[in-house]
Amino acid sequence: MPVNTFSPFTDASVKHVRNAGRETSRMRPADDEPLFSKQELDKSFATISRWPGYRPTPLLSLSGLARKLNVGAIHYKDEGGRFGLGSFKALGGAYAVSNLLAENPDPSSVTVTSATDGNHGLSVAWGAKQIGCRCVIFIHAEVSAGRERSLKLQGAEVIRIDGNYDESVRRCYSAAGDNNWIVVSDTSSDDSGSDVARTVMAGYSVMTAEIVRQLDTNAPTHVFIQGGVGGLAATVCEYFRLAWGSAAPRIVVVEPNRAPCLFESARKGERVAVDVREETVMAGLSCGEVSVVAWPTLQKLADDFLTIPDSVVAPAMCLLAEAPFGDSPVVAGESAVAGLAGFICAGQDDELSSALQLNQDSRVLIIGTEGATDPALYESMTGRGAASIGRASI
Ligand SMILES: Cc1ncc(COP(=O)(O)O)c(C=O)c1O
Repeated sequence: MPVNTFSPFTDASVKHVRNAGRETSRMRPADDEPLFSKQELDKSFATISRWPGYRPTPLLSLSGLARKLNVGAIHYKDEGGRFGLGSFKALGGAYAVSNLLAENPDPSSVTVTSATDGNHGLSVAWGAKQIGCRCVIFIHAEVSAGRERSLKLQGAEVIRIDGNYDESVRRCYSAAGDNNWIVVSDTSSDDSGSDVARTVMAGYSVMTAEIVRQLDTNAPTHVFIQGGVGGLAATVCEYFRLAWGSAAPRIVVVEPNRAPCLFESARKGERVAVDVREETVMAGLSCGEVSVVAWPTLQKLADDFLTIPDSVVAPAMCLLAEAPFGDSPVVAGESAVAGLAGFICAGQDDELSSALQLNQDSRVLIIGTEGATDPALYESMTGRGAASIGRASI
C-alpha cells in the first residue's frame, strides 16, 4: 500500500449525477408495478436454497476501515464463495436454466446459449451441466484465457469473437436464431428477452434476501453498488424498498468511466447506449447498453450514479486483501470492488461526500460481487495469490 492508503482514491476523477427522475418517496405508489411478484421471490428463494451446497454468503463488518473513513459502519457482503463459482452471478443464469428446463422431459435435446464476460456464462454453463443440456457460450476478444478455461471446465463450448461484449451479445442472438437454441441472457435490449433476464434477476434476489436477514431491521443508510447492464442494481433497489420501505437506503450505482451506460442514461433521463471503445479492467461491468428490464426500476429508485477510473481498482483490491486496519482480509476481484472504490473516492471529496450525505452516522453496504474469479489476473493486480490471503473466498 502507498504511505497514504487513500491517496489513489483522492486523486481519482469521479463523476457524479443525481438521478433527477427518481421517486422522492420510498413508499410504493399504489399504481406501481413491482419488478418481481411475491410468488417469484418466494420461488427463487425456495428453489435456490435447496440446491446442494447452498449456504448464505457472509456479511462482514469492516469496522477498522469504517473508523478510518469516518463512517458509522461498513457491511461487506462477500460473494466470493457462492456455490464454488466465485460470484453472485451463480444465482442468476443457473436459476434461469433450471426454470426454463424444469418441465422438459428431455433436456439433452436442448442447447442453451449466452454471451458473457465470464461470470454470467459460468453460471449458465453450471446450470446446463446440472440439468444435462448442451451449452454454447460467446465471449469477446478481451475475456481472459483463465475465464475461458473455467467455462470449458463446466462443459461449455466456447466461441470467442472479435469485438466487444455488446457484439458478443449480437452474435449469440444470431446463432440462437439460426440453430433454435435458447438464449439465457442477463440482459435484454427489447421486450423479447425480458422474461429470461427478469428470471436471472429473481435469482439474484436470493442474495438480497440474505442481506435483509443478516441486517434485520438495521437497514444501511447507503448502498454503493456496481453496475454493468443494471440487473443487479435494479434487484437491489427493488428488494430493499420492499423490505425496508421508507427506511430503504440511498442507492449509489457505480460504473467504470469506460462503460458508463447507466450514468449516461440517468443524465439524459432515458435509456441510452454508449460505445465501449476501450475495455475496462472491471470486465463484468464493461457494458454499453442498459437492460430494458432493469432501467424502469433504476430510473424510479436509484438515487445517484458515479463513474470511476480503472486506476482505483487495484488499490481497492489491495486494501481488502491487506486489511491494514484490523478487519478480516477479503479476496475481491476487479468487478467486485467498484462500489467500495466509488464510496472511498466519494468520501475523500468534501463536495461529493456532502452531496451524498456521507457522515459519521452512515452505515454503508458494499456488495463484493466476486472473489478471484480469474486467479492469475488477481495475482497480477494485487501482487499476491488469492489462496495466500487469510480467508480465501473461493
Ligand atoms: C462481479 C460482477 N459484479 C457486478 C456485475 C454487474 O451486474 P449487472 O450486469 O447486472 O449490472 C457483474 C456482471 O457481470 C459481475 O460479473
